[in-house]
Amino acid sequence: MKTKLTELLNIKYPILQGAMAWISEARLAAAVSNAGGAGIIGTGGRELSWVKEQIGLAKTLTDKPFGVNVVLMDDDKEEKIDLICNEKVSFVTLGAGNPVPYIEKFKNAGIKVIPVVPNTKLAKRVEDNGADALIIEGMEAGGHIGKLTTLSLMTQVIPEINIPVIAAGGFADGRGLAAALVMGASGIQAGTRFYASKECAAHIDAKNAIVAAGDMGTEITGYLSNHSIRSLKNKATDKYIELEKANAPAEELSKLRAGKARSAPVEGDVEWGLIQAGQSLSVITSIKSCEEIINDFIREAEEALSRVPGTKK
Ligand SMILES: Cc1cc2nc3c(=O)[nH]c(=O)nc-3n(C[C@H](O)[C@H](O)[C@H](O)COP(=O)(O)O)c2cc1C
Repeated sequence: MKTKLTELLNIKYPILQGAMAWISEARLAAAVSNAGGAGIIGTGGRELSWVKEQIGLAKTLTDKPFGVNVVLMDDDKEEKIDLICNEKVSFVTLGAGNPVPYIEKFKNAGIKVIPVVPNTKLAKRVEDNGADALIIEGMEAGGHIGKLTTLSLMTQVIPEINIPVIAAGGFADGRGLAAALVMGASGIQAGTRFYASKECAAHIDAKNAIVAAGDMGTEITGYLSNHSIRSLKNKATDKYIELEKANAPAEELSKLRAGKARSAPVEGDVEWGLIQAGQSLSVITSIKSCEEIINDFIREAEEALSRVPGTKK
């Protein structure tokens, strides 16, 4: 399946495994790349030495292109950027901050730059500043989210942009991939579907919670303060929302989140940890290998696309 994205990254299928802090490690990223998509190592909150080790490990596990994500809120982002430039990975995705000051540096190191953006204005800005592609991430997604949905982003951003646009947020099967391609996207990025994969290092209780959850299984916390996170409903989200309703001070709310993005996937704290996950949960019914997930995406997308010409007037 060829698109502008597969050509840009030299990959077989237009599917990225979205970076997931504390979850998407070298083994997951390499498994996705070996299956024909492109995996991404999530470096958010991680030590520099861990990032170096994981990039090295991924290089031993795959000879296919893989990416690295930098969370631009991280205090040591400059050091991480230097390290990634030295390691010469295929591409980076950049989120949670202004990517523009870093685009040239990556490009000079021969690394393709793919910022994650939540609206048309930022999409145009990163294109004007030399990004190679961009990811529009709708609020159906797991993790930190913006305010627009994936469909409204595809509708409004894609016609304005010439570089490849990758749609993210709520893609968990091949019908979604087909829909994104029909909308003019060059590919998709999926996170939650790969969380529930065999190669994902996350705690089995967190993976099982994703498999067990259905379409109403997530909650957004922090919406009013513009620090929105979508995660599975649990004691932590109930408590957070209770405190938000009571106008609790910001420090109390942030205390409730401290270390929680880590404790669910790493320690298996599924009650008080944050199991960040997107809304398209009902179709995730088992933990599969990345190869099965990618093959399902492609088979279902091809089936869906073959039905389109048969549409009756
Ligand atoms: C557990 C989790 C952690 C995430 N962490 C990051 C991150 O560190 N950096 C980032 O750019 N995006 C992050 N995301 C967003 C994903 O890369 C991806 O865009 C999103 O999961 C797509 O929506 P979906 O979950 O519906 O597939 C995270 C998502 C999840 C589910």
